[in-house]
Amino acid sequence: MSNDQIRFEDGASYERYMGIWSQLVAAKFLTWLAPQQGLSWLDVGCGNGAFTEMIFKQHQPSTVTGIDPAPAQIAYAHQRLDGYGATLYEADAQNVPLDDNSVNIAVMPLVIFFVPEPAKGVAEMARVVAPGGTVAAYTWDMFGGGFPYSPIQKAITEAGVTVPYPPSIEASRMEVMHELWLQAGLSNIQTEVISVTRSFVDFADYWETVLGAPSIGPQLNAMSASKQQAFQAQIRATLPLEANGQITLQAHANAIKGVVAR
Ligand SMILES: C[S@@+](CC[C@H](N)C(=O)[O-])C[C@H]1O[C@@H](n2cnc3c(N)ncnc32)[C@H](O)[C@@H]1O
Repeated sequence: MSNDQIRFEDGASYERYMGIWSQLVAAKFLTWLAPQQGLSWLDVGCGNGAFTEMIFKQHQPSTVTGIDPAPAQIAYAHQRLDGYGATLYEADAQNVPLDDNSVNIAVMPLVIFFVPEPAKGVAEMARVVAPGGTVAAYTWDMFGGGFPYSPIQKAITEAGVTVPYPPSIEASRMEVMHELWLQAGLSNIQTEVISVTRSFVDFADYWETVLGAPSIGPQLNAMSASKQQAFQAQIRATLPLEANGQITLQAHANAIKGVVAR
């Protein structure tokens, strides 16, 4: 583990590595959330717009604001959401550039463990959501085997390579999120575990995908050709390769929602 920051510097690589996964979770999360149509939304840590796009496609929002501190993610989100009318800012979850009580619903998809002080991030969502509105999030269950790339992350660490981890990884635990929602004064708190699967066409598809990971991609790319080859063989042996070469992985996320008191 290292204290280096995970840098989100390429929206397209992010899409292949994580955006696709996020939308798989988002589809089930939005069904569980069951929001009304026509709400004003805040998407905190909107990244390259993976979740934001689903709000527009499924929930006819009145407005959507997305914030993310990474310029490359915001640039990709601008392209992806062109024509939808989203308002996007480079901003931090701990200091949301919106007025009190100014939106109906705030979401944090796959973000809470990246926020240095998660309690501040949740408090900010509770501040900007109007009474009766919803504050919600989902995050990979990092300690319960939910992260889709945990086998390769573990293997690279065991190989002695230092990789950066999100700064607030503890916040991926359901009980920690529940406590954060309580501390922020939210009520009617409900939680859900959301399971998803994703298939890669073959090992080459999987490998190209992980080379674009903001966490382990730089370390994989920096390996010598021989080390990378040996590591590939090691990882390949751990993956559930089907007869046709396809690889299907499972993952699960912890989701939470609560209501701002009236
Ligand atoms: C795993 S991505 C999730 C992106 C998007 N929500 C999705 O579901 O695909 C994590 C995002 O959190 C953003 N992030 C990191 N630190 C943050 C902070 N302090 N406040 C808000 N967003 C942050 C990153 O820039 C990155 O885009």
